[in-house]
Amino acid sequence: RAFEEGFKPSNLTELDQAVQACRRCPLWRDATQGVCGEGPRSARLMIVGEQPGDQEDLAGRPFVGPAGQVLDAALAEAGIEREDVFVTNAVKHFKHEPQGKRRLHKTPTAGEVSACRWWLDAERRLVKPKVIVTLGGTAALGLLGRKVAVTKERGQAVELGDGAKALLTVHPSYLLRIPDEAGKTAERERFVKDLKRAKALL
Ligand code: URA
Repeated sequence: RAFEEGFKPSNLTELDQAVQACRRCPLWRDATQGVCGEGPRSARLMIVGEQPGDQEDLAGRPFVGPAGQVLDAALAEAGIEREDVFVTNAVKHFKHEPQGKRRLHKTPTAGEVSACRWWLDAERRLVKPKVIVTLGGTAALGLLGRKVAVTKERGQAVELGDGAKALLTVHPSYLLRIPDEAGKTAERERFVKDLKRAKALL
């Protein structure tokens, strides 16, 4: 029973196996699988999203759907190789509700984020990134353990106490939802700028 009190995964494979057995909150019930972080254990940069989406839930990999495409393009523009980054989520199971044939994303509760923080902390312990970028409010809550006004705190480095720094920014799916092209382009540029700031902190 890998998820019991006191268990500490000693590598990322063990962590992944333990996440599959996680019953710390009920989200595992409706999900295909737990989706852990992906990337080198030696990564200096960690990126934290909210939770797996529909495609991530099926693939078992973070950020492979539409938001992942936005993230990949922005990373490339910021001169960051995704292969060098440890990409993960604040919540490891896909929370959703049915709408017709589709599975509609539902924002995880603070309680679910807090339950899953245990896994994010375990990933941080193993990877020991120098800089952690959080995408959106849920990711910031998962990392910092407090409610964050991302629009106010974005782009500034926050000391995490263990020598690492956090940089908060918006979620790529927010960029996807901006209706007008000019606004979308401007926000996308700000997002890339935040990623460049994170790179400069490495
Ligand atoms: N959105 C997220 O926050 N994480 C993913 O892995 C995919 C979409």
